[in-house]
Order: sequence, then C-alpha cells, then structure tokens
Amino acid sequence: MPSNYDNSAWFYDRLSRLIYGKALVNAQVYLLPYVPPNSSVLIVGGGTGWILEELARVHPTGLTITYVEISSKMMALSKSRNYGDNRVTYINQAVEDVIFTEKFDVVITPFLFDNFKEETLQKVFGHLHHQLKTGGLWLNTDFQLTGRWWQNVLLKSMFLFFRAICGIETSVLPHIEQQFKQHDYSVITEKTFFWEFVVSAVFSK
Ligand SMILES: C[S@@+](CC[C@H](N)C(=O)[O-])C[C@H]1O[C@@H](n2cnc3c(N)ncnc32)[C@H](O)[C@@H]1O
Repeated sequence: MPSNYDNSAWFYDRLSRLIYGKALVNAQVYLLPYVPPNSSVLIVGGGTGWILEELARVHPTGLTITYVEISSKMMALSKSRNYGDNRVTYINQAVEDVIFTEKFDVVITPFLFDNFKEETLQKVFGHLHHQLKTGGLWLNTDFQLTGRWWQNVLLKSMFLFFRAICGIETSVLPHIEQQFKQHDYSVITEKTFFWEFVVSAVFSK
C-alpha cells in the first residue's frame, strides 16, 4: 500500500525546519537554477508545494509544470502556492499510476525515493525514466549514509515516525544512486548538505 502523507501535511514543513533548519530547503533550492527556461518540468512528491514558489523565483514565467502528489492534503496546500506566470497541472495520484501523454525536459524528485522499498523504487524510477526526454535533466535530492553514526540513528527514527504516522513501507534506505548508474545517467553536478546526510544531484539522461 502506498504511503499517505495526509496525516503529516499540517506539520511536515515545521517538523522539517525544526530538525534540519533550512538544510532540506537549501538542498532543493540549489538544484533549481539548473532548470532551463521555458522547459516542461515534472515534479513528483513536492509535499506542501513550497518548491513551486522557489521555482517561480528562478523562472517567474515560461515553465510548463506537471505536479504529481499522492496526498490530497499536501496537494490542497500545494494548490494555494504562488507559482508566478508558469503553467501548472496538478495530478493527485500515485505517480506510478499516472499515464503521461508527453515526455518532460526535467524531472524533479525531492525526498521521494526514501519512502520506498527497493522494489517500489525500481518500479517508480523506471516509470519516470521513461518520461524524461533523452538529454533531459533529472534533479534528485535525498538522504544518504556516509558512515557517520548519527545518520543511521536519525534515519531510523524518521522511518519509525513516518511509518507510524503515514504508513511508509520501508525501514531502510533503498539504493537510489544505483538506479541512476544502472540507467546510464551522467552526473552534471552534486552537492551535499547537513554534514553529507543529504545529497542533491543533477543527472543528465
Ligand atoms: C518525504 S515527503 C517530501 C516532501 C517535499 N518534497 C519536501 O521536501 O518537503 C514525500 C512526499 O512524496 C509524496 N509521495 C509519496 N509517494 C508518492 C507517489 N508514489 N507518487 C506521488 N507522490 C508520492 C508524499 O505524499 C509526500 O508529500
């Protein structure tokens, strides 16, 4: 069963800021200047939708955005965001169930894959890979383990918490980086945040 962030929608951003300060926001904002002007952008799992406002700061106009979010409460918050003069289509569905009629120049997956078991990661990754144009950019941000003891403690606590509140299916981090390697993506740029616990990368297909 897919996770549902409905129960956490009202406090998610505040909790994130409390634990990580601005790190999770900065990690995503870092990627946005890589979105080319006038491109078609697929955002998956954007949460409360603040990323739409940050994207509008970089590109106030010209973008065609498709915003897919499984949680209806997260979606409701996202719909109230100021996305400038960009065009946004909202799809309130699990992304793996969405049949897209177009391919995109850019795919953005901010803290999406950490919710998944390996099997779901592979399925969703394959689906998104198919939707990205050849030469297109994939902007991904997520947690990683680089050997510091507290990273595992923090990660396990998050999994326990979000499993109890939102029913997320996994209790270990799936192999996200490996998917990009297996599908032959090249890394354009990469930066870590929060003492390497978070990694943001721009991949080219
Ligand atoms: C960990 S939260 C991250 C939210 C946001 N990106 C942020 O950084 O604040 C993951 C988000 O992905 C959404 N999500 C999880 N599985 C999904 C799926 N299969 N399709 C679309 N959205 C999904 C959840 O509802 C949730 O809003």
